[in-house]
Amino acid sequence: MDSMKIAVAGGTGAVGRHVVDVITERGHDPLVLARSRGVDLVTGEGLSLAGVQAVIDVVSTNTQSTKESAAFFAAVTRNLLAAEAAASVAHHVALGIVGSVEAPFGYYAGKKAQEELVEAAPVGWTILRATQFHEFASQLYSRVRLGPIHLAPKMVSQPVAAREVAEHLVDLAIGTPVGHAKDLAGPRVEKMVDMMRAYAKATGGRGPIIETIVPGGFGTALRNGTILPGPAATLGKQTYAEWLAALP
Ligand SMILES: NC(=O)c1ccc[n+]([C@@H]2O[C@H](COP(=O)([O-])OP(=O)(O)OC[C@H]3O[C@@H](n4cnc5c(N)ncnc54)[C@H](OP(=O)(O)O)[C@@H]3O)[C@@H](O)[C@H]2O)c1
Repeated sequence: MDSMKIAVAGGTGAVGRHVVDVITERGHDPLVLARSRGVDLVTGEGLSLAGVQAVIDVVSTNTQSTKESAAFFAAVTRNLLAAEAAASVAHHVALGIVGSVEAPFGYYAGKKAQEELVEAAPVGWTILRATQFHEFASQLYSRVRLGPIHLAPKMVSQPVAAREVAEHLVDLAIGTPVGHAKDLAGPRVEKMVDMMRAYAKATGGRGPIIETIVPGGFGTALRNGTILPGPAATLGKQTYAEWLAALP
């Protein structure tokens, strides 16, 4: 196969850096789009897709606000789609989240807005929805705390290796557009509190980890399996325990 130039929007992020590695390992040419590389996808500053054949969008924002998330993902997606049209890019691939359309959560409003824009795009498109990455428990461990206490939301997840998500995204990007691809999840259902405790044990983390009920409809969705994959999902291989054991 001829080498392709593939732009990776968010190519410095948790999954984006794996996407860039996989593109390179497969003999293709990655173009990283991120603010730290001089491209702001919200304003469009620095964005040019000349010579690009496919775009993989794995940009993210930290907000939990419905308004901010919707504005962020809509702006990024509109700017990418317009630049793709101008450069005759053949394929737009976006990474979504399993259950994000059903579960009422501010950040997910942005993911929904993103999917709606992609579904209406004139360019060929593919959306892959994945579950939480194995890294998610460590992100919660370091970010959600009250002094020395770490708060673990009461939730079930079927986490997947970010590297395996990246491999699927690159496979999809070099293929023809498929619309909604099969959901991608990890091999096992886990409780978030167990994942966070195992992470703390593996990395020498201190302080109690307390399981906390998230209120409202989103908390219900976290607990009742709304964010778990259906039976038709593709399952990755690496378990959370294997991922932990492989940490440097
Ligand atoms: N994390 C999970 O468990 C999970 C699970 C399923 C799906 N997803 C989806 O996967 C995608 C990536 O998530 P992630 O956790 O890998 O994200 P992340 O680690 O937070 O990385 C975000 C990326 O977006 C870039 N970025 C942010 N604002 C930007 C802007 N204005 N212009 C250009 N680039 C910008 C960042 O680079 P700069 O800071 O340099 O701009 C970075 O490369 C998201 O769409 C998320 O919804 C995540």
